[in-house]
Amino acid sequence: MYTQSLDLPGQPQHGPTSANADQAARQAAFDARIAEDAKIEPMDWMPEAYRKTLVRQISQHAHSEIIGMQPEGNWISRAPSLKRKAILLAKVQDEGGHGLYLYSAAETLDASRDALLDGLHSGRAKYSSIFNYPTLTWADVGVIGWLVDGAAIMNQIPLCRCSYGPYARAMIRICKEESFHQRQGFDALLSMMRGTEAQRAMVQDAVDRWWFPVLMMFGPPDAASTNSTQTMAWGIKRISNDDLRQKFVDATVEQARVLGVTLPDPGLVWNDERGHYDYSPLDWEEFWRVINGDGPCNRERLATRVKAHEDGAWVREAALAHAEKRARRASPAKAA
Ligand code: 3HC
Repeated sequence: MYTQSLDLPGQPQHGPTSANADQAARQAAFDARIAEDAKIEPMDWMPEAYRKTLVRQISQHAHSEIIGMQPEGNWISRAPSLKRKAILLAKVQDEGGHGLYLYSAAETLDASRDALLDGLHSGRAKYSSIFNYPTLTWADVGVIGWLVDGAAIMNQIPLCRCSYGPYARAMIRICKEESFHQRQGFDALLSMMRGTEAQRAMVQDAVDRWWFPVLMMFGPPDAASTNSTQTMAWGIKRISNDDLRQKFVDATVEQARVLGVTLPDPGLVWNDERGHYDYSPLDWEEFWRVINGDGPCNRERLATRVKAHEDGAWVREAALAHAEKRARRASPAKAA
């Protein structure tokens, strides 16, 4: 009341009207940057819904990377040669690194890493459905590289052009590493396919078990994809779930032929009219069951992750104590 009485005509207004005008100007500047395909950076103003959506997607992605270390990590001690063991160790470490870049990207959006990890450990946060399937034989490790990392690359290359700068830049490095992962998987399978009858059968069995879950990695059909319309309008997602799935199917048929394996879908046939391969409908009930916590390995994956976090508590405590000691040494007055 008193403030209003002091307002003089012609002076800038700071009441609700000017706040609304500021908000509209910031929104217009944001919309213009999105329209011209410019990057949004952490210090730029952004709508709260854009920030939340990015935190959701980037953190789910980070969780997928670190949970994804488990199915292959199981095979590090059982790799068939020193060379394969060294390659697998490097690959699993890369996945851990991807998780770290992505958590860091989420932190630029004011998300705390502790809160994100708490979401994962409590089962509230999602991670990729694919990592809830078991790795029964060494061939599964090769198939994860070839198909799972292959699908991840197909989905993630467009994210290098995502409108949010830190996510886009993280994706450039991640995609380079995923490309090595995909090739090492194909190479491991090729060696097995050139081996014995039993090895070829093992590869075929792994392909049979992973093919359909891999196609589901791309997410639900476009009609059921609740987030796509908005994330595509914001330039976060560039290509729809179904279009990416189709690109992956089209690219993989020829690779399967070179490898000498059969993709386990009698409905997988070339459609001249569409200029794409047709494929059979996927079991979306299975997909929703798995992402809602009831896949073959959900409980085991989460329990292993929580235990690893708890077992690592002393490392975090030691790192914090060390950082405090350094800060005290750097400015003793402040610390006192
Ligand atoms: N697994 C688990 N949840 C999934 C999923 C999947 N394969 N596909 C979709 N979902 C969830 C979505 O998160 C969403 O749930 P929410 O609203 O509660 O978050 C719901 O199903 C509806 O799906 P939408 O299509 O509306 O969701 P999105 O628009 O977010 O699209 C996505 C899903 C394509 C996975 C997209 O989020 C994306 O591109 N994410 C970034 C990439 C990523 O996270 N990849 C995961 C694999 S990483 C990996 O494979 C590691 C590598 O080392 C192999």
